[in-house]
Amino acid sequence: MRKQVKNNVSWVGYMDWELESFHGDDYSIMNGSSQNAYLIEEEKTVLIDTVWTPHRFDFVENLKKEIDLNKIDFIVANHAECDHSGSLIALMKEIPNTPIYCTAACVKSIEGQFGKQNWNFNIVKTGDSIEIGNGKKLIFVEMKMLHWPDSMATYMTGDNILFSNDAFGQHYAVAELFNDKANECVLWKEAVKYFANILNPFAPLVSKKIEEIAALNLPIEIIAPSHGAIWRDNPMQIVEKYALWANAYQENQITIAYDTMWGGTAKIAHKISEEIQKQSPETVVKVFNVAKQDKNEIMTEIFKSKAVVVGSPTAVNDILSSVTGFLAFMKTLKFKNKKAATFGCYGWSGESVKILQEKLKESGFNVIDENVKSLWNPDEEDFSKVPELVASLLA
Ligand code: FEO
Repeated sequence: MRKQVKNNVSWVGYMDWELESFHGDDYSIMNGSSQNAYLIEEEKTVLIDTVWTPHRFDFVENLKKEIDLNKIDFIVANHAECDHSGSLIALMKEIPNTPIYCTAACVKSIEGQFGKQNWNFNIVKTGDSIEIGNGKKLIFVEMKMLHWPDSMATYMTGDNILFSNDAFGQHYAVAELFNDKANECVLWKEAVKYFANILNPFAPLVSKKIEEIAALNLPIEIIAPSHGAIWRDNPMQIVEKYALWANAYQENQITIAYDTMWGGTAKIAHKISEEIQKQSPETVVKVFNVAKQDKNEIMTEIFKSKAVVVGSPTAVNDILSSVTGFLAFMKTLKFKNKKAATFGCYGWSGESVKILQEKLKESGFNVIDENVKSLWNPDEEDFSKVPELVASLLA
């Protein structure tokens, strides 16, 4: 069922209430999601993006109920990832000659995933535009590596809508569509989680792209991303947040992330947490067991932090595999301007603290020398090292 966005622009996407994960299982979905596709019906009829492959038949059938598919003058494919292009095969079976406007990299990615289809691709670059009638046009803006090589945004003049694709999105199902109808806490929680876990590796490009879009001097009344709520109430608020988040963002927060075998390393984690609160009551402290809690939620908290403290006991001359996997994922997110410290228990060889320090350095953290390395169970002598570690983190 279509939902009006503004004037002759409608949402024709898929509200994915049951989605539990994304990018395989690499991104947890806690509040549903949506794949937003849009239909523009001016003198030209334009479809912007489609929905994920499993929903392709529903998507095409629903679209048929709204319009005669043969009335679609052209399709804009802002992004080739299958959550947005996955219904093209089913749709193009119905309207095989319909032109598709997209970037050159998008053609490669679509053909790479679905094979050569002899579709009528029209390659566009930043600044290219196309008239859609009633004095309105679509202007294309390449968004290379935000977050795929093919990513693109499309701006509609007249109604001043930026169809931003993944940028500014959230994995959050909002039946009423708009940011002013969404639960504000959930909206921001999901928006920052999306940035931290998907866009942060490309943060320098985000800053440049925001400057580039600002220089185009286009009035923006609505930002319509491809996931989650559409920003119509003060749409620039999410752009302003992106500008902050892309610039080595941090709050007065420290996140402690650990795993433990028999509870000793957990004790150190909580001792460090208590000491941070003692030395700096205004600092927010969060403590997570990386084996038990959601990694994307933890990464979001680390993204917001000025420092991370990572703990693992030594096991077979190494760290626990849960912590290894956690650190490997964290490395890909390319956090900047954050301090780090390490801790862990051991029984004989005791490599974990050093291994954690090396891995955190490789991931770009400013690792402090102070650490807590505890033989068997932590005792008062081990805990006596905690104040110095915390003071160094807060300095
Ligand atoms: Fe929502 Fe990059 O796909």
